[in-house]
Amino acid sequence: MKRALVLTGGGDCPGLNAVIRAIVKRAAQEKDWEIVGSIQAFNGVLWEPTQIKVLDQQAVRGIHYQGGTIIETTNKGGPFAWPIKDNDGNWSTVDRSDEMLRKLQLLGIDAVINIGGDGSQKISQQLFEKGLNIIGVPKTIDNDLSATDSTFGYQTAVEIATEALDKLVTTAASHNRVFGMEVMGRYAGWIALNAAIAGGADVCLIPEIPYDIEVVKEKLESRFYKDRGFGIMVVSEGARPKKGKMHFEKSSEVGYENLKLGGVVHQVLRELKDAGLKVDMRDVILGHLQRGGIPTAYDRVLAAQFGVKAFEMVLEKEFGKMVSYRHPNIVAVPLKEAIGKPNLVTLDNRIIQTAKGLDISLGADI
Ligand code: F6P
Repeated sequence: MKRALVLTGGGDCPGLNAVIRAIVKRAAQEKDWEIVGSIQAFNGVLWEPTQIKVLDQQAVRGIHYQGGTIIETTNKGGPFAWPIKDNDGNWSTVDRSDEMLRKLQLLGIDAVINIGGDGSQKISQQLFEKGLNIIGVPKTIDNDLSATDSTFGYQTAVEIATEALDKLVTTAASHNRVFGMEVMGRYAGWIALNAAIAGGADVCLIPEIPYDIEVVKEKLESRFYKDRGFGIMVVSEGARPKKGKMHFEKSSEVGYENLKLGGVVHQVLRELKDAGLKVDMRDVILGHLQRGGIPTAYDRVLAAQFGVKAFEMVLEKEFGKMVSYRHPNIVAVPLKEAIGKPNLVTLDNRIIQTAKGLDISLGADI
């Protein structure tokens, strides 16, 4: 019997379970393959005792529409930066990758399928360079991974953000208020732009275009006083002012290397007030709501396509590669192409022209 190990790493994302189920169902069509899952990314392999669970058809029955991941996830640590505490209580990290590769051998693992975002796929590439038979499956609601047209989970996040905007519009109109709604997207404004277009926002601030508060104020004032009597603004968590920095906190969580974002919308409303916008303003941070709940049908289908292709790549021994959506095909691309350079919104992207064509202010004179 051959064994493929599946794991989910980084932030969770609607559609992870649909990928896992698709891998298991496709593998079941081969007589000699067993699928096992490592709990919390590679932690399940690294822990003593290991936490590896058999994923058979029974284990994945009916999970295609469930959010989250049945094998859990983590965005801390990993085989190259395993957190350890010294005698003085200080934390540092050690490289346990060689030990992990030996453990995988002992567990009889023939191939690994790593479902994760940029950080996880960097780990995949490093392990591939150390000789591991590994395949990547891209996931992120932010859609900021290169070498694929899009990732599953992203559509669901846009849908959740759009539904929230639809709700804010009615309360904003009833109370004659300006609403700022913050969405995820630490480096990329894809969720914000798509939700702003779908939800009919007046302003959309994204990390790629530093905003000028005067431009934002002018737009909201004009929409408020001359036009519809309320204002709607979508703000990416990674948005930053022209003369300022990204709004973040350093996390105190052990092994968590990401910057902790969230709350920039409060800052934008404060700046608007200081700049002299005299209307009632309220803000909402959608946060992790965008990562929870059931995936849209589109994301379930994309996730299923990724899962089936990932297992077929195992059969074809296409290691060191990542599954990718290149419309209309699902293909294999080198992991190297996917990591390093994020998929950001560029000014020449059609989505920017569309936003401008709809008279949505991007907070800058562009
Ligand atoms: O990478 C996806 C993402 O959803 C970002 O948009 C967000 O900043 C981050 O994850 C937050 O992750 P967590 O709170 O799980 O660390």
